[in-house]
Amino acid sequence: MERLQKIIAQSGYCSRRKAEQLINDGHVKVNGQIVTTMGIKASYEDEISIDDNILNIKEDKVYYLLNKPRGIITSTTDDKKRKTVVDLIDEEKRIYPVGRLDYDTTGALILTNDGSLTNLLIHPKNNIEKVYIAKIKGLPTKEDIKKLCNGVIIDGIKTSKAKAKIRKLDKKNNVSIIELIIHEGKNHQVKKMFEAIGYEVIKLRRERFAFLDVKNLKSGEYRKLSIKEVKQLYSLVNKEKR
Ligand code: URA
Repeated sequence: MERLQKIIAQSGYCSRRKAEQLINDGHVKVNGQIVTTMGIKASYEDEISIDDNILNIKEDKVYYLLNKPRGIITSTTDDKKRKTVVDLIDEEKRIYPVGRLDYDTTGALILTNDGSLTNLLIHPKNNIEKVYIAKIKGLPTKEDIKKLCNGVIIDGIKTSKAKAKIRKLDKKNNVSIIELIIHEGKNHQVKKMFEAIGYEVIKLRRERFAFLDVKNLKSGEYRKLSIKEVKQLYSLVNKEKR
């Protein structure tokens, strides 16, 4: 949702100020109804007309890949006024994150204003692969790793099949680095999966989301996705509609 005068101005019809005047003077309809209340919000899906001429308000889609730093919330706003992932990106359009990474989790996060792609990417039926690297307290056994792969019970539900492997066992410091590949996105899933087998995650990074990794992005850096990458994401979810 966006202020009506902003949507009108973005369509290129006139300036925001002129749009306010047009609203005030009763020239503007939203879905066939004249609107004169200032400050009212509309969506890009609404039909907006001026003197019965329908505006083309389709917003260009933008897609970003961010290497999310620690200490930033994955949200569009925060009631405690903390910085959000959206604040890190220099983009006028209203964008939002695809799924969620915890405040202290780092790594690959897509942000976009493409709601249909977002819904497809986060829907479990589409099986999007997410690769996490977890630093955990303790030294898991092969049996523990097998449990992660076969599924563990979190919040009363068994997680689906996953892939996991030990990247490093640091016996001296009693910590390990584990790679865990999952296709779901339950709340705090990785931390809860480790908790279910008796280990605490002390650091978590998402190394890859689908085929997108952040190896070339420093913490807090981001880049636009290429058209090819966007198409590739659409083909992963088998819906070439846009
Ligand atoms: N799983 C978690 O526990 N935290 C995240 O941020 C992402 C996946």
